[in-house]
Amino acid sequence: MPIQNPQRYTVTAALIYANGPIHIGHLAGCYLPADIYVRYLRSRERDVVFISGTDEHGVPITIKARNEGVTPQEVVDKYYVQIRDSFRDFGISFDIYSRTTKPAHHQVSQDFFTTLYDKGVFEEKVTEQYYDSTAKQFLADRYSVGTCPNCANPNAYGDQCEKCGTSLSPEELINPHSTLSGEPPVKRETKNWYLPLDKLQPAIKGYVDSHPEWKPNVFGQCQSWLNQGLHSRAMTRDLDWGVKVPLADTEGKVLYVWFDAPIGYITFTKELLESRGQDWEPYWKDGQTKLVHFIGKDNIVFHCIIFPAMMMEHGGFTLADNVPANEFMNLEGNKISTSRNWAVWLHEYLQDFPGKQDILRYALCANAPETKDSDFSWKDFQARNNNELVAILGNFINRAAVLTHKHFAGKVPARNQLYDIDLGVIENIRQFPAQIAGSLEAYRFREALSYVMDLARVGNKYLADTEPWKLVTGDPARVQTILNLSLQLAANLAIVMEPFLPFSAERLAGMLNIPLGKWKEAGRIDLLADDHRLNESFHLFTPIEDATIEAQGQKLLNTKKTNEAAAHATNVQNTPVTSAKPEVTFDDFGKMDIRVATILAAEAVPKTKKLLKLTLDTGMDKRTVVSGIAEHYQPDQIIGQQVCLLANLAPRDIKGIISQGMILMAENTDGSLAFVRPEKIITNGGTVK
Ligand code: 2FM
Ligand code: ZN
Repeated sequence: MPIQNPQRYTVTAALIYANGPIHIGHLAGCYLPADIYVRYLRSRERDVVFISGTDEHGVPITIKARNEGVTPQEVVDKYYVQIRDSFRDFGISFDIYSRTTKPAHHQVSQDFFTTLYDKGVFEEKVTEQYYDSTAKQFLADRYSVGTCPNCANPNAYGDQCEKCGTSLSPEELINPHSTLSGEPPVKRETKNWYLPLDKLQPAIKGYVDSHPEWKPNVFGQCQSWLNQGLHSRAMTRDLDWGVKVPLADTEGKVLYVWFDAPIGYITFTKELLESRGQDWEPYWKDGQTKLVHFIGKDNIVFHCIIFPAMMMEHGGFTLADNVPANEFMNLEGNKISTSRNWAVWLHEYLQDFPGKQDILRYALCANAPETKDSDFSWKDFQARNNNELVAILGNFINRAAVLTHKHFAGKVPARNQLYDIDLGVIENIRQFPAQIAGSLEAYRFREALSYVMDLARVGNKYLADTEPWKLVTGDPARVQTILNLSLQLAANLAIVMEPFLPFSAERLAGMLNIPLGKWKEAGRIDLLADDHRLNESFHLFTPIEDATIEAQGQKLLNTKKTNEAAAHATNVQNTPVTSAKPEVTFDDFGKMDIRVATILAAEAVPKTKKLLKLTLDTGMDKRTVVSGIAEHYQPDQIIGQQVCLLANLAPRDIKGIISQGMILMAENTDGSLAFVRPEKIITNGGTVK
């Protein structure tokens, strides 16, 4: 059961691999909900630490290093900075953002391993593992690829199929081959230390079953693992990049990256609190601490089964109270893919939309993949901004502030007699914060954000119904009341929107000339004193033009074209060439009169798809040749170009046209055609020999 009234919160967000920049899928899936939750807790003045950093070990890092021709250390140094800065720029307010390559982390994870070893938790097993005899290396995890036994994806990794999400071990791959040499691997014996998840299954099941309140996608995935029966899993690997196994005679062995990475949450908490001169242990070892892991769905088994099993066997640690994992966010109908560059990268977004972090935060939260995969589209992004942030939230605040400046010299007017409509608004101001908080505490961030917008709608409707601009001369006392309540509502909005839209909340508080309030102040209608002077008003949000959105669409279209060209090139490479023809003599070749000629005219042959009728200047004459190139060249593209012509081929009647010769073409293995032509201009009639 979830912990009631915790004394403190330890909130973690997945330690992303430091092997590439981050995109909207990362933000929507894990970091944005985590940040919203933590900002809310801080506003509630709860004791919370928000922990994250980069995962800098494991095969994803060494493969990237190999692909880029640099060292793993260079890879993680580069991406740590880029990732950290992107999070900072988007207002993801970690208390610490650290790295697993730090010596302190190596020490903490080695100590953790040693404790389990000394307690006799591990099974020590010599097994046959895939080995690349050319590269002279064991093929841990992603070093082997092959066909997925579940969905037949030919590019499944040795640890997971990214297409169907199935977790795999290298031996399960069909037709495995090494990503290092491309060769099929051989088996070789090696010793590793295993966590006996099979034996621990009852305890893990007890833990998972005690949390039926977890999100259905999380609880369901855990139950599916448990129903299939857990298997012991190696916690060490034969690799040279990672945390060294702290045992004698283990040269060339490191801790499994999924062993050391979650321990990083503990290391970083320690690093943070030691830097503050505080005790870190209550944040991990006290039963009154609520531990919450924010992750994406591909990390569920590690956080709900393997890490808790490690912690239980170690002893003394609090287990996660909740793991509110999200599903995935797609982009314009297709899966986000780093390798295919199908993504909106955070650093590129900021170049294109400087200072507009909150729009993306809003669009991603409003459309978060909380219960199922969702889709980001630029059109939706524009609509969220123009129809919601601008038209509802921004419009309400702007009208209230502008009217106050216009009619009351920018000073908050006092309230007068209250009518039912005013009492209704006051009741909404009072009730909404609790409603928003309820959704946030239940990790329903989309719903919470929709309530924030509903509160802004209350304000808009209030102004639309009361029309204070029409009462300025006739009933100024009424205008005072309406504007007072509208401004109180705006001050409330600043508080409740802060977790979602922190930059705009600060700007709104600045416009109202008040410090950004804490959650306990929300619900009140005395946040602005009578006569309090507002600052200049401005538009919190501005419309996004169609051209801006079209430019983003074009960018994605270009990516699609590049990918199609690359896929085409790969297909071409992979298509076998035709086998060789029988030998010919030099005399045979010499019988062919091949000449350089220039295309003077070209037109499609009616009622055919493939044929063009060409008029050629051969130097000797002007002649007609019919050529089967219409699917490869447009007639007006080729006029004036030089080609090579087999000039003494016997004339043939093709579709009623006498063709006098044949243009030489090179054919790609995929059937595409290209002219064979002299590399420099040659006089028409020049011979080819
Ligand atoms: O999926 C990933 O990017 C992993 N590096 C997440 C690790 S989360 C935690 F366990 F450290
Ligand atoms: Zn698969």
